Amino acid sequence: MSSKNIYILGIESSCDDTAASVIYNGKILSNVVASQKIHAAYGGVVPELASRAHQQNIVPVVHQAIEKAGIAKEQLSAIAFTRGPGLMGSLLVGTSFAKSFAYGLNVPLIDVNHMQAHILAHFIDEEGFEKPPFPFLAMTISGGHTQIVKVTNHFEMEVIGETIDDAVGEAYDKSGKILGLGYPAGPEIDRRAQLGNPKAFAFTKPKVKGLNFSFSGFKTAVLYFIQKQVKDNPNFIEENLNDICASIQYTIIGILMDKLKLASKETEINHIAIGGGVSANSGIRNALKTGEQKFGWTTYVPKFEFTTDNAAMIAIVGYLKYLEKDFTGFDTTASPRLKI
Ligand code: KG4
Ligand code: ZN
Repeated sequence: MSSKNIYILGIESSCDDTAASVIYNGKILSNVVASQKIHAAYGGVVPELASRAHQQNIVPVVHQAIEKAGIAKEQLSAIAFTRGPGLMGSLLVGTSFAKSFAYGLNVPLIDVNHMQAHILAHFIDEEGFEKPPFPFLAMTISGGHTQIVKVTNHFEMEVIGETIDDAVGEAYDKSGKILGLGYPAGPEIDRRAQLGNPKAFAFTKPKVKGLNFSFSGFKTAVLYFIQKQVKDNPNFIEENLNDICASIQYTIIGILMDKLKLASKETEINHIAIGGGVSANSGIRNALKTGEQKFGWTTYVPKFEFTTDNAAMIAIVGYLKYLEKDFTGFDTTASPRLKI
């Protein structure tokens, strides 16, 4: 096999996005995502509906990714897929499809850990985006994850902090639900936060030792606060929405930054990368910039399309594993609780 022309198809189906991507020697040729709109009506991802939508989407999404890449499927060197963590029914669709496709094409199969992929998305070749040097700290923040990981090399990673309950994106989405905002509420809270006073209302930060996070108490604090205020003034939310959003955002970013500062101090690592849907947040981006000035950090934020769930990050891990000839047997199964 020539090491010069490596085409990897990546498939991602761990939650509510069906995605496929083709990369050629580390560069993206296509990156297709079919997001499932159906869950918005329920205010959160409904696993059974997600799995059904993946079944409908997977063939056209893969077809489109290969077509957009301008290659024939016979040119693919290997098929990489998300093995876990994620929703069982969703993972099974991608896993089964990847196995059959690799078997049919007679190419290697490569399993990918979704959380590692969020981190290794930083190694996609993309103009204007620098790759972090080892060792670095990666904070993965999304609707499903909140982790700080010490990354020693591409495949040596250690989770040094993670949420003990809700993910940070859930804190945004659940707070948004209390305020009557649509799902997912993160972007709307972020937009309004920039128009409001972050110190208007005070929410206490959870006291969790070490580098772990907790967000379930925060959500309850927001709920009780709003219930109490609305009792006195039924128009409290409408009259103060931007200030409430700004105060929520201020507290959440404070929680994230406290832990990141501690992690950097404890590990003496100043290169800090973020990923996951919440890394689009203006507050976290500003806080990272402040960290650069105040603590001498160098921070890395990938292109937006590689921060939310996508298959390019799966394909890049596939590529890195391909170079190591780290292939997967066809007896592999989906693993909903897969750890880094
Ligand atoms: O990575 P992602 O697309 O999907 C997974 O959860 O894996 O992340 C979605 C999450 C949602 O909770 C959404 O509210 C949040 O990211 N989000 C934001 C922003 N944009 C998306 N949260 C805060 N500020 C934003 N600008
Ligand atoms: Zn994810």
